[in-house]
Amino acid sequence: MKNREIELEFSIKSGAPEKQRSACVVVGVFESRKLSGPAIDIDRASDGYLSEILRGGDMEGKAGSTLLLHRVPNILADRVLLVGLGKERDFHEKAYRDAIACAVRTLRDTGSMEAAITLSEIPVKKRDVTWNIEQAVISAHDALYRFDRMKSKPDEARRPLKRITFAVSRRGELKFGDTGLAHGLAIARGIDLAKDLGNTPSNICTPEYLANEAKKLAKSHGFGCEILDYAACEKLGMGSFLSVGKGSDKPPRFIVLKHEGGKKDDKPVVLVGKAVTFDAGGISLKPPAEMDEMNYDMSGGGAVIGVFRAIGELGLALNVVGLIPACENMPDANANKPGDIVTSMSGQTIEILNTDAEGRLILCDALTYAERFEPDAVIDLATLTGACVIALGAHPSALFSNHDPLAREIEHAADHAWDRVWRMPLWEDYQEQLKSSLADMANIGGRPAGSITAACFLSRFARKYHWAHLDIAGTAWKGGREKKGSTGRPVSLLVHFLLNRAQK
Ligand code: BES
Ligand code: MN
Ligand code: ZN
Repeated sequence: MKNREIELEFSIKSGAPEKQRSACVVVGVFESRKLSGPAIDIDRASDGYLSEILRGGDMEGKAGSTLLLHRVPNILADRVLLVGLGKERDFHEKAYRDAIACAVRTLRDTGSMEAAITLSEIPVKKRDVTWNIEQAVISAHDALYRFDRMKSKPDEARRPLKRITFAVSRRGELKFGDTGLAHGLAIARGIDLAKDLGNTPSNICTPEYLANEAKKLAKSHGFGCEILDYAACEKLGMGSFLSVGKGSDKPPRFIVLKHEGGKKDDKPVVLVGKAVTFDAGGISLKPPAEMDEMNYDMSGGGAVIGVFRAIGELGLALNVVGLIPACENMPDANANKPGDIVTSMSGQTIEILNTDAEGRLILCDALTYAERFEPDAVIDLATLTGACVIALGAHPSALFSNHDPLAREIEHAADHAWDRVWRMPLWEDYQEQLKSSLADMANIGGRPAGSITAACFLSRFARKYHWAHLDIAGTAWKGGREKKGSTGRPVSLLVHFLLNRAQK
């Protein structure tokens, strides 16, 4: 039972839209009834056919609206699909990506197997052709993604969309488009894998399952891969990590992936991903409402695996290490209890006041383990706190860092990837909330500033290198009965970050 991969071919092309021999050519219309450049070309070639239809009131150009036209005069394509772009002055990144998504969904639902999309020619302020093409590929992939491996009968599209050509406005732009295409495809595949892992339910996606997925990927892409079991972690002294999985009958795994694309002695970037395959809260049991969503509590680890897929396909010239502590947080006789004190790999002791604050307990040992790679930078990603969702909602991931240049580098990559972050403070002042009278620290800091005190906790294990932490609790998945699903974030951000470093 494997999830069906999206079999979609992308290419880029320049040339007059009216001369595209295609099942469907897609052109954009701004509000109100203002034709985009390629739409003007089609209008001219068809002696004002589009203007006439718009004058008739069939379409205003509102974002999300579409109109499918057949037999447009003097046009070589079988059909023309008009896609509303909203107001021209608001046509920024979000509107662009939404328009692409709307176009491909409409193409799929109207049985077009192939199409030429000209929306990619429309300029987006501050962005270039490479960006437009890359984002078009990622957005199209995202819109067509489905997770149906758990359905008894997957609903197959009658005539699935197979081929998309994105237009660039001049021949000279093709080479920039090619870069966008290559990056976009690799990122989209990485996102697909992260989504599949996130969406796979925790009765199947166990720590062992994740370890096997990592091994498979390592084999197909030539990564180094090491899986540490309970005994190996115990030897290393990972008392904090191991304490979390003890209430579960699924044994923990500590996954190590290595991409050796750089020079032998180049210091690696280490990515650390939280992978709690299910977070019931442990003895500090979570309330039942929406507990199902804690299936996504392995999204950090899933994203690390997704990033590896992308950088493997790109043959990235950089050394990258992935560390994924994977376990399940369940209540049982052997589980952590509030008041228990554990000793982390760093030697620091932790009083567990709430067993539901387990993410930091597994990450702290991974952060200590990261030291052995003498990393150039360490970035951890974790669905760490509900407080982060309250603070920032679903749009940016929260960024914390002990090194301003690293934070700026991540902010830059995030903006470019349109996989955004918002920096939060990591001030000394917050550290006192973690005081414990019995151990070196407590694992919770009370309700105020919950995502910050969680980051402060991690910072105590990341003193030996440049480090950033991404709280992806609000961004890694979408909730709700019908739309529930992994987003694959922040794969795109991290791949851009690594691409930028490899080009330096
Ligand atoms: N995995 C959760 C964080 C989470 C909660 C993400 C809701 C997305 C939505 C994490 O392990 C957790 O339970 N955190 C606690 C910490 C608290 C006990 C200090 C939380 O946020 O409630
Ligand atoms: Mn928890
Ligand atoms: Zn958790």
